[in-house]
Amino acid sequence: MKLVNVIRTDDMVFQVWRDAKGNRFVSRTFRDLTKAVACEKLRRQGFPEKYLEPIERGTLRSTVLLKGEEVPIEAFEIARKWAKEKFPLSLLLLGSVGTGKTQAVVTAAWWLLKKRKIATARFYSAMELRAAFDKGELQKDIKEVDLLVIDDLGREYRSDYNAYIVEAVITTRYDLQKPVCITANITFEEIANRYTPRVLDRLREWAYRRIVKQTFSLRGLSGGK
Ligand SMILES: Nc1ncnc2c1ncn2[C@@H]1O[C@H](COP(=O)(O)OP(=O)(O)OP(=O)(O)O)[C@@H](O)[C@H]1O
Ligand SMILES: [Mg+2]
Repeated sequence: MKLVNVIRTDDMVFQVWRDAKGNRFVSRTFRDLTKAVACEKLRRQGFPEKYLEPIERGTLRSTVLLKGEEVPIEAFEIARKWAKEKFPLSLLLLGSVGTGKTQAVVTAAWWLLKKRKIATARFYSAMELRAAFDKGELQKDIKEVDLLVIDDLGREYRSDYNAYIVEAVITTRYDLQKPVCITANITFEEIANRYTPRVLDRLREWAYRRIVKQTFSLRGLSGGK
């Protein structure tokens, strides 16, 4: 097969191919969204400005300078691998404070949107889930959005009601086979204790699960690229 022509419209790329017998074939793909359009979509879907701004400005790094040495930002690597290789599996990203988890998942969601692997995403910090559930908004998002991000699972007030909401989110998304992307400071054991076994059991089967081993916080560090 030989590529004989490429036609680009605002939205699509058409490739015209010819085989050995002279037959022509056309393939169509959507063009990537621009960086700004993808950021704007996420902004409207509850993604925090603090994490969109460095994407838009292009100031994110894949490494930091630590005691004179370039060290990779582990959360960033994990989220990149998930988005490029493991999606549409879910992601469960655990790790200590300030290791770049939230920035990493927002960047991964932005990349998936830009590459048109998803059309809609929604960001909730775990502490916002209850208010959204009480308003009925969460139930709609759980069913509809292509990617649901829950940041800081376990930070919500510990109660049976909150645990029930988390369980409803995970089981419904699991039944629909629509991915969730979760960050947390707590361990697998704490997840198992806090919620019913159904939650961790589903995530075991259906999520790319990684623990960031990095021990230092990125807050206040500078350097790297
Ligand atoms: N790839 C990156 N490049 C540059 N700065 C980054 C990067 N990742 C994270 N940061 C910065 O490091 C700080 C901590 O990142 P982030 O909030 O994502 O960590 P976290 O693991 O989610 O922390 P917490 O557990 O407290 O929620 C933030 O100020 C963020 O802007
Ligand atoms: Mg965070």
